[in-house]
Amino acid sequence: MEEQKEITPMPRIGDKAPEFKAVTTQGDLHFPNDYKGEWVILFSHPADFTPVCTSEFMTFASMADKFEEANCKLVGLSIDGLYSHIAWLRSIKEKIEYKGMKNVEVKFPLIEDITMNVANKYGMVQPNEAATQAVRAVFFIDPQGIIRSIIYYPLSLGRNFDELYRVIIALQAADEFGVATPADWRPGDDVIIGPAGSCGTAENRMAGNEDMDCKEWYFCTRKLDKDEVLDKILKK
Ligand code: BEZ
Repeated sequence: MEEQKEITPMPRIGDKAPEFKAVTTQGDLHFPNDYKGEWVILFSHPADFTPVCTSEFMTFASMADKFEEANCKLVGLSIDGLYSHIAWLRSIKEKIEYKGMKNVEVKFPLIEDITMNVANKYGMVQPNEAATQAVRAVFFIDPQGIIRSIIYYPLSLGRNFDELYRVIIALQAADEFGVATPADWRPGDDVIIGPAGSCGTAENRMAGNEDMDCKEWYFCTRKLDKDEVLDKILKK
């Protein structure tokens, strides 16, 4: 069997986002302190000047206003230097036209991490996939600096940015309304009520005495209006 390389630990859901200072394409960054009171997505990509990453950056940058409206900032990272980042972002803006996107300016910060300091802190290097490139990691961090969700993709697989947006909205909806969100949930779909904590509550729910729809005592949903969700979450 092929020998497995040593793995660095990674932060987990519920942990405080590890702190770091870094240089970015938008100036110096003190993370996560610079984002107090805001949601932030910290994501890594394997390398500048590569096609999957280019398609991802064009897509993410084109959606940046949508994320901003949801009080969510974007921060990218790869194990490349600042001048490589600058040259790549300039090339994207000036030369690449893809799926109707063109003249795309990446305005969010892209961290230079040639030392791998940040990538190692966040477990973005998964050495059995690639020893010197970050995988496609996505950390969703809340306004208190707590990691709320993590998604990882391998080098060959471009991310689904609609899903990243869905996650940000669903996390905020869960906080705002004290509910959970079922499979494939989108604003306007029914939400899940917390589990019945006693036999009496379970009985009550199944008797139809509460304003909810129970498939079984442990699986109850309620309506949550799309506009109510979006009014709460999206900046006007
Ligand atoms: C890409 O972004 O195209 C890519 C980067 C690293 C490995 C494979 C693909």
